[in-house]
Amino acid sequence: MSTTPSDALVFFGATGDLAYKKIFPALQKMIKHGHLDVPVIGVARSGDIEQLRERARDSVTKHGGLDPEAFAKLSSLLRYVGGDYADPATYVAIRRELGLANHPTHYLAIPPDLFDDVVTLLEQSGCATGARVIIEKPFGRDLESARKLNAVLLQSFDENHIFRIDHYLGKNAVQNLTFFRFANSFLEPIWNRNYVESVQVTMAEKFGVEGRGSFYEQAGAIRDVVQNHLLQVLANVAMEPPVGGGDNESDRDEKVKVLKAMPPLAAANVVRGQFRGYRDEAGVSPASTVETFVALKVYVQSWRWEGVPFYIRAGKMLPVTCTEVVVKLRQPPPIYESVPPANHFRFRLGPDSTIAIGSVVKRPGEERAGDEVELLVSHEESKEAPDAYEHLLRDAMRGEPFHFARQDYVEEAWRIVDPVLAADTPVLPYEPGTWGPAESDQLMFPGTWFNPRLAT
Ligand code: BG6
Repeated sequence: MSTTPSDALVFFGATGDLAYKKIFPALQKMIKHGHLDVPVIGVARSGDIEQLRERARDSVTKHGGLDPEAFAKLSSLLRYVGGDYADPATYVAIRRELGLANHPTHYLAIPPDLFDDVVTLLEQSGCATGARVIIEKPFGRDLESARKLNAVLLQSFDENHIFRIDHYLGKNAVQNLTFFRFANSFLEPIWNRNYVESVQVTMAEKFGVEGRGSFYEQAGAIRDVVQNHLLQVLANVAMEPPVGGGDNESDRDEKVKVLKAMPPLAAANVVRGQFRGYRDEAGVSPASTVETFVALKVYVQSWRWEGVPFYIRAGKMLPVTCTEVVVKLRQPPPIYESVPPANHFRFRLGPDSTIAIGSVVKRPGEERAGDEVELLVSHEESKEAPDAYEHLLRDAMRGEPFHFARQDYVEEAWRIVDPVLAADTPVLPYEPGTWGPAESDQLMFPGTWFNPRLAT
């Protein structure tokens, strides 16, 4: 594996939504932390360098704040190449702009239907030689297209130079799922079907599609966040400890094994929903049947997890913005004439990062009744945690694949969700500000969803 640091970063989609919300702020942070000192070439269909600098300024101001020194440096490193992504002349201009750089990282922060053209033209122009490539999720739109995309990539880049990005893997709170599990010996004896009753993952977002209607029409909640972010979270909860000290491949091997143990999703275990008002969004068809909400039940058929349901729920326009994992333990037997509630482990992955253990204590006084309390293991505001994109861009530019998805993983994830993408499960309407269609509660019955509560 090559660990030669990249000597330029080329990012396609420089005027796009992702660059605006995540990439420019991450680049400024990389500079601030001394991790970026090479030319940064933004590629977009139209504009010029001054407009790009302005957009970068606006982006960092709105997302975390402008750091005058780091931003000045980012401005000086920034270059601009304008042109059509399907036009060979654009790539001649990129190669010219790269100058003496011969280990660039190309970041494709663009719609997936453009990947093929861009990769082919990078190769033809010589820009792929000695280079790495970062591909945004979702990688493909189903198993077949993911395989085709991979075949196109492998014509120009070898596997070690392909970085399939899923920014959840760069989040400290997501990494802490496995770290906390494997660094604390008290967990291992209970982290299995004998003690765990169910696992729930909820990714709730209070906002809608925010101007990304046409992207979302091609994606929907399953492709947008379940196939990638939320299956990764599930894999972290369920995986076995990596062997050999957890090098890049043994860790990724264990994640793949979790997915291999999961049967494809059954339509009967999936509830899709769409918030009222979605069809009025720009770029959305008035007859759209794309889901903005999904709740599903899936199993990991391994020795450790046989029979334990894993529930995943994700949606836009829900009551709060919060992502949580709740691992619920089995119900204890009755004590003193009452049945105590089950214990749980709660991992909040955003907006803050929290690990808490739900337990029951005796209520003060005569009564032999219990109250639920949470033992707070750790709590960290997200402002203090390193940014996921900063972490991942730095890793990719150094050739470190640990926090990136491997092709076999991506294919297994598509295998699991593919049948539901093709099946015509109904899309049920729900009111904005609610927890989605009531049918999602039936999926969980007789259990109930653990709705994240944010401190007000
Ligand atoms: C992106 C999805 O990958 O993740 C968005 O495309 C979603 O729809 C976002 O809002 C959520 O990321 P985070 O880090 O804010 O939880």
